[in-house]
Amino acid sequence: MWKNLLDWIEYRIPMMRVANMHALQYPAPKNMNFWYVFGFIATVVLVNQIVTGIWLTMNYVPSAEGAFASVEYIMRDVDYGWILRYMHSTGASAFFVVVYLHMFRGMMYGSYQKPRELLWLFGMFIYLALMAEAFMGYLLPWGQMSYWGAQVIISLFGAIPVIGDDLTLWIRGDYVISGATLNRFFALHVIALPLVIVILVFLHIVALHEVGSNNPQGINIKHPKGSLKEEEKTKYQIHEYYTDKYDIIDDVVPFFPHIVLKDLVAFTVFCAACAYVIFFNPEMGGLFIEPPNFEPANPLKTPEHIAPVWYFTPFYAILRAVPDKLLGVIAMFGAIAMLAALPWVDRCKVRSIKYRSGLHKLNLTVFAIVFVLLGWLGLKPATPTFTLMSQISTLLYFGFFGFLWLYSKNEKTKPLPARISK
Ligand code: HEM
Repeated sequence: MWKNLLDWIEYRIPMMRVANMHALQYPAPKNMNFWYVFGFIATVVLVNQIVTGIWLTMNYVPSAEGAFASVEYIMRDVDYGWILRYMHSTGASAFFVVVYLHMFRGMMYGSYQKPRELLWLFGMFIYLALMAEAFMGYLLPWGQMSYWGAQVIISLFGAIPVIGDDLTLWIRGDYVISGATLNRFFALHVIALPLVIVILVFLHIVALHEVGSNNPQGINIKHPKGSLKEEEKTKYQIHEYYTDKYDIIDDVVPFFPHIVLKDLVAFTVFCAACAYVIFFNPEMGGLFIEPPNFEPANPLKTPEHIAPVWYFTPFYAILRAVPDKLLGVIAMFGAIAMLAALPWVDRCKVRSIKYRSGLHKLNLTVFAIVFVLLGWLGLKPATPTFTLMSQISTLLYFGFFGFLWLYSKNEKTKPLPARISK
């Protein structure tokens, strides 16, 4: 009976065909290591944010008068409200931890290189949408840092010549940050941006499954039809969509159960780490929820030290490193644009760091250290020493891309193996 029902459905909508193509029988390189779990974990966090967000919205009041008190009400009086809120606030930080690791994996294994440029660009659009989503969400509790953080960031747009002042007015919907700003941020945070992110993630996966996953060796697993000998072709049951288009070799395994099991191990470890934060350390020493946010927003009292949440601080440090406001804003957006341009900045034909030059290994290591350092500096007050350190780090940040462009064209790489298992 079940088979008949499934066949009936399959005849009308390709449920199993899509499930096989994109999940069960998706040909995954069998050397995928732990760096490959973060895409799955990011998807889990996305679902967590949407589900806990829906439940928070049931008791949250999106008005300047009611917002702060409604969050207190959720924390104290709503059944399990505190766990919903901490799952959502911890999820926001976890999202960025996971996405930064996911991006760094792409940089190590050259996953942005041909033919995955568009996949990388979709990733960058997701990253931008995620930053906007987090920024708008942070205003909603209407605490001191929500208010003043938003004040600092929105005023940056005022640095744009000619249209700057009108633009900030348009974004705020008022001459100061007010209930009007909160309302529009609420609308964007709960519906518009989540929708955009979900659509972008869908396109990200479609683009990935069209060209296939890269792997730690950085070499192809899918070969154009007719390019391989019969004995080289896959011994696994892979969906005909892939075998029709490509000669897939047996360096791949079906996504289910092989990769699913690996992802589940990572999921368990990830849940344990999040449980520690949610139950024992939800503010993470002021990193995930900043102390001034336990006070209601007060437009007449500026907090002593305003810093954005940690995931924005690398770019905030770049902004502050430049003495001129407009140039600072350009440098900040430029820093993100450089990441998006990586597929064209890196001119090397070899993808994986394993087979690239010592110079590239050094350059990428310095970049990772500088990124973390900038994140730390962005949390610190702008004293002369910290500003100088931010300036040096900013130069090194942009230096990574400049050097990469220069040496990658004629880089001395190691010979590539013919197969990933060799
Ligand atoms: C909501 C955020 C995101 C989600 C849910 C997501 C999801 C995924 C998934 C499920 C995969 C396949 C599994 C894996 O390789 O880990 C993947 C691969 C990939 N993602 Fe993302 N991603 C996100 C953000 C990003 C960002 C911000 C970038 C970079 C700008 C990016 C770049 C890539 C690349 C290059 C691959 C292919 C990697 C390879 O095959 O080596 N993703 N993503």
